[in-house]
Amino acid sequence: MRGKKQMSAALIVCLLAGIASGCAPASVQPKKQSIRIGVTLYDQYDTFVSQLVEYFDICAKEKGQETGIEINVVLYNAAGSQSAQNEQVGEMIEDGCDVICVNLVDRTEPTTIIDMAEKNNVPVIFFNRELVEEDLERWERLYYVGAKAFESGIMEGEIAAEVFLGDPAADKNGDGICQYMVLEGEAGHQDAIVRTEYAVSTMTENGVELEKIGYAIANWNRAQAQTKMAQMLGEHGNRIELVLANNDDMALGAIDALAAAEIPRADWPLIVGIDGTDVGLAAVESGEMAGTVYNDKEGQAEAMLELAYALSVEEDLEPLELENGKYIRMPYAKVWPEDVDDFRDGQ
Ligand code: BGC
Repeated sequence: MRGKKQMSAALIVCLLAGIASGCAPASVQPKKQSIRIGVTLYDQYDTFVSQLVEYFDICAKEKGQETGIEINVVLYNAAGSQSAQNEQVGEMIEDGCDVICVNLVDRTEPTTIIDMAEKNNVPVIFFNRELVEEDLERWERLYYVGAKAFESGIMEGEIAAEVFLGDPAADKNGDGICQYMVLEGEAGHQDAIVRTEYAVSTMTENGVELEKIGYAIANWNRAQAQTKMAQMLGEHGNRIELVLANNDDMALGAIDALAAAEIPRADWPLIVGIDGTDVGLAAVESGEMAGTVYNDKEGQAEAMLELAYALSVEEDLEPLELENGKYIRMPYAKVWPEDVDDFRDGQ
């Protein structure tokens, strides 16, 4: 039923800076006094996505204060259902949203959303879950904000190679080969496919001989990763020398499994993740994870807010330097234990 999935009114951010419209010179007067930005998440409990959207709210507050425009952010949780998300977008359009930010449930199914948006002339910013270029090309007012997945894979591979080659104890059986396993995100997600491929090829290019002893899909999820890692430990035990996780939550799931199995820390495999979420950074700092790759949620949130704002008040998009007029992709960064403090509050 309509409105059911809408999150609490507390999440509707209404910002009124109280700066009278007469304060700014007439030439820079924005056309609107208030804007409404709709946001729908594939899953509000995803650690990375929820932290990104938390920061988006902060950016909206700041932008509201800076511009004197009331910025309303209306947040919905699609809870893993594409049809629910389609309905939410319909509702946001009816509610008069100036722009809609969509974290697609199914990145291969954006058609309904695109059609509704075009019909009602409401621009859409897709983020984090990348649709194929052909879909983004279907209408001129469609955009994407995210990152270059391959970059994170390369950086994860570089971290893993450097640690493995630099620490003879990491090669537990001393055979000169790195026995590794992969914890993968959702099947079909651009970041899962590409991160795994590049992490592995980068390790090889960096001179590490690899033997894959297993992989498991754990859907970005800590609890699922713990279960899968426990199974792997049952099958391969102390043979696992490296866990390449597609994100920090799954790396943490692997750690949970090692801890639950009471395996002494000295016998743990190397574990590398991607994201630099708060919990991920804490695990890098404590040495449980060898390192992670920072997925710049603050940069992505800020870019998305700037784009949403510009689209809402019909400002020139030129200063935002969109790639092909449609894409904003923030760079990743490697995080070693000694760098953690630099990343705690964003880059
Ligand atoms: C992040 C994951 C997250 C996923 C959700 C990825 O970019 O690294 O942590 O679960 O996006 O779509």
